[in-house]
Amino acid sequence: MCGIVGYIGERSAVGIILEGLKRLEYRGYDSAGVAVLGPGGLQVRRSAGRIKQLEAILREQPVKGSVGLGHTRWATHGRPSEENAHPHTDCSGSLVVVHNGILENYLPIKERLVAEGHTFKSETDTEVLAHLIERHLKESPRLEDAVKKALRELRGSYAIGVVSTGAPDRLVAAKHGAGAVVVGLGAGETVIASDIPAILAHTRDVVVLEDAEVAVVRRDGIELSTLDDQPVQREPTRILWDPIMAEKGGYRHFMLKEIYEQPRAVTDTMRGRVVPESGNVILPDVNLDPAAVREIRRIVLLACGTSYHAALVGRSMLERLAGIPCEVDLGSEFRYRDAVVGPDTLVVALSQSGETADTLGAVKAARAKGTPLLAITNVVGSALSREATGVLYTHAGPEIGVASSKTFTATMTACYLLALYLGRQRGALTAEEGRKRIQELLEIPRLMEATLELDAAVAELARALFHYQNFLYLGRGTHYPIALEGALKLKELSYIHAEGYAAGEMKHGPIALIDEAMPVVALTPRDHTYERMLGNIEEVRARDGKVIAVAHAGDREIAAKADHVIAVPPAVDLLSPILMVIPLQLLAYHMAVRRGCDVDQPRNLAKSVTVE
Ligand code: AGP
Repeated sequence: MCGIVGYIGERSAVGIILEGLKRLEYRGYDSAGVAVLGPGGLQVRRSAGRIKQLEAILREQPVKGSVGLGHTRWATHGRPSEENAHPHTDCSGSLVVVHNGILENYLPIKERLVAEGHTFKSETDTEVLAHLIERHLKESPRLEDAVKKALRELRGSYAIGVVSTGAPDRLVAAKHGAGAVVVGLGAGETVIASDIPAILAHTRDVVVLEDAEVAVVRRDGIELSTLDDQPVQREPTRILWDPIMAEKGGYRHFMLKEIYEQPRAVTDTMRGRVVPESGNVILPDVNLDPAAVREIRRIVLLACGTSYHAALVGRSMLERLAGIPCEVDLGSEFRYRDAVVGPDTLVVALSQSGETADTLGAVKAARAKGTPLLAITNVVGSALSREATGVLYTHAGPEIGVASSKTFTATMTACYLLALYLGRQRGALTAEEGRKRIQELLEIPRLMEATLELDAAVAELARALFHYQNFLYLGRGTHYPIALEGALKLKELSYIHAEGYAAGEMKHGPIALIDEAMPVVALTPRDHTYERMLGNIEEVRARDGKVIAVAHAGDREIAAKADHVIAVPPAVDLLSPILMVIPLQLLAYHMAVRRGCDVDQPRNLAKSVTVE
C-alpha cells in the first residue's frame, strides 16, 4: 500500500514526481525515493521518513532528466529505512523498480538469484523483481518482455513501474491485485500514478490498468497488453474532478475539509437517484433485474473498519425497509467461518477505496460460491467495482484524510438508497412510504449543515477533555455502530484509548472501568432506545463517570443528567446516525489537534490497506 508516480516527457521529471508523491502520501509515508534517467544515467535518491526529507536530500544532490519514477512507502517487508525505500535497483544499477503490493514467493526466487551471483542490498520483496528483470533482459532485450517474464514467475500482488537505461524512451507499468495504476495521457508527456489526484495537475485523460496488464508508457501514449502478450485496446476516461477538490481548500487539514464536505457528499450520493414524486429509487448500475431482486433471500454485508460500521447501520436500513434478513461480517473474518452463501444471497461489499485486501479476499470467497456481488465504493474503476456484478458508487469525491469521514456518511446514504430500492422493488414499501422516506432523506443535507454549526462548541468540549486517557462510547440500535465509529475516530486521530460498546452490554463488563477518569460519550437520540439510554447514563453517574450526551435538540430531560450535552437536529432513527456521527468526528479531530497529532496521516495507518 504505497504510492507510485512516474513521468516521461519533455519537462524535468523530479518536480512532477515529488508533487505527485505528496498527493499520494496518504497511501504510506514511512520512506520515499525517486529515480531519474538523464544524461548522467540513472540517478537514485532515497530517504527514510516523509517526502520533505527526500526533498532535503535532493536539494543537496539534485537529479536531472525527463524520465523517472517515485515512490512513497508503507512498509510490508523490511523496516522503514533508506535501504528498504524504493526505487530498488538491479546489480548493475541500470534498472529501477517501484512496487506496491506483496510478492509472496520472493524468498525462493531470491535464494536462486543469490546462488547465481546476484547481490541484494535491501530486505524487501521488491528488490527480487529488479534482479529477476535484469536476468531476463539477457535473453529478452525488450524491457517489457523481460518485465512480463519476471512477473510470470512471481505470485502475489503488485502495481509496479520500471525504468531502464537500455530503454530510455519508455516506462513499463503493470498491475495485478494490488492498488491501482492510472496512466494520464498529456500533450507530449505521460504520467503514471497510484491514484488520480497525482495526475490531475497534468491531464484529465486517464487509462486505468486492469489486473495482469502491462503498459509500455511513452511520451506520446501507451501500448497495453496482457501478461500473456494479448494486445488490449482501451479508450481513455475523462476525469471531471476539479483539482481543487483534491486540495485542502482553505481548511487546516484535509480531514476537517472532508467533515465539512459531508452535506455535499451525501447530496451527490443521492443525486439523480431518487424520484420524490413516485417514491422510487433508480439504481441502474446495481444490475439486478426485478426477478433477481425477488429471489434474494438474504443479504451479507462485508467491510472493514469504518465501512464495517456503515454496514452495521446499513443492516438496520435493509431489514427495516426491504424486509430482507441481513448479516454483517468483517472482510478479514468472513473467509474463516465457512459461511453458507449461494446464488440467493446478495453479497454487498462496502469499501471507500475499493482496494481493501481483506474485503476483496472476502468477496472472492463469496463469489466462488456463486453469489451476486454488489459493491458500494467511492472509487470508480477500483478493484472491488471490477470484481462486482453491480456497483453503487458513493460519489463522495476523493478522500485524502486517512481517517474516513465523508465517505462514512455517504456510504450510509448509499445503503439507505439500496434499502429503499429493494423495498420498493419487492413490494415491502408502498409508494406512499417510499415518498415519505425519500422526503426524510432529502432533508438530511440541510440538517447536516445545521449539525456542523456545533463545531465551535465541540472544539470547546475538546479543550476540556483532551487530557483524558480513556473513553467509553455507548449507543443502542442504529446508534450502536456510531458509538463504534466515534471510538475508532478518537483512537485513530488522537491515540487515546476508546471503546465503543452496545450500551446494554455495559453492565456485562465495561462498567467495571467506570470512574471519574473515564468520560462516557452516550448517544441518546429521542427514539425507542431513549429510556434505556437514560438508565445507562444513571449507571455511569452513580459511579462518578463523566457523561457527554449526544442528544436530539430540544431534549430538556437530558440536560439534567449529563455533564455536557451536544444537541443534534432530530431525525428518524434510520437517518439520525448520519447526523449523530458528525460531532463525534469533530470531537476526535479537535482532541487530536490539541494533542499535536498528525490528523491527516495518523501514525501506523494508511488510507488503502492493500495487504491482508
Ligand atoms: C477509517 O477511518 C479507517 N482508516 C479504516 O478503518 C478504513 O475504514 C478501513 O481500512 C476500510 O477501508 P475501505 O473503506 O477503503 O475498505
